[in-house]
Amino acid sequence: MTTEQNSRRDFFKKASLSGIALFVSSRFSFAAKASSPVGVSLDQVISKLAEYQLTGQSKQNPLPYGYADLEPSVDTKTMEIHYSKHHAAYTKNMNEMSTAANTGSKPLFQLFAEIDKYPVPLKNNAGGFYNHLLFWTILAPAAGQVPEGKLLAAITESFGSFDKFKEIFSNAGKKQFGSGWAWLSVDEHAKLVVSATANQDNPLMSTTEVKGIPVLALDVWEHAYYLQYQNRRPEYVEAFWKIVNWKEVSRRYDEALLAIK
Ligand SMILES: [Fe+2]
Repeated sequence: MTTEQNSRRDFFKKASLSGIALFVSSRFSFAAKASSPVGVSLDQVISKLAEYQLTGQSKQNPLPYGYADLEPSVDTKTMEIHYSKHHAAYTKNMNEMSTAANTGSKPLFQLFAEIDKYPVPLKNNAGGFYNHLLFWTILAPAAGQVPEGKLLAAITESFGSFDKFKEIFSNAGKKQFGSGWAWLSVDEHAKLVVSATANQDNPLMSTTEVKGIPVLALDVWEHAYYLQYQNRRPEYVEAFWKIVNWKEVSRRYDEALLAIK
């Protein structure tokens, strides 16, 4: 076994023992699966998912719905401020900071894979740029949507049931201390994991303990809910489930599996 493989194995062993990983499932043990990886590192996978090229002139994608369309789960004013002020600021700052840091033109995912080499403000703003890009796509006006097919089967396999997964993911968001995100990601063993990160960190970053390719995200910064819910973050988290765009989550899940296998 190479030094790199040993290092990776030790990392995952550490992650599985840390208690920070929130992907606990009655039938899924990360440590047990570590002996049979699919044979690629997450860095290799990330290089295949080269969306969002870093250019110094990155732009927000248009929202795929109107500010009012996620009512009543998320109010119109929050959506407007969140997209046109907060996300816009992350985008502007990332462009300026990536230029100042001479990152060159590279996939944003590659920047995340080596983010420990760059200033923390660039990490915060590049994370803010990408996390919100992802977040807008996995939301959709409420229409009784639920996960189906391969994704639902994977959720059931990893967490026991869809309801159990919702409970684990919700708790990740509700219990994240201060600002941050809850994530559902595909790890390098092609397994689904739930985790939480602080600030604008995400599972693609070299500095994040529970790594993976995110397919579902929940913003639990107060700017995402405070106008409507004030201190009642748990109510916001519960309302989130009505507006998840499971078709997009499923598409991202398939994309991640293709990259890994
Ligand atoms: Fe946000």
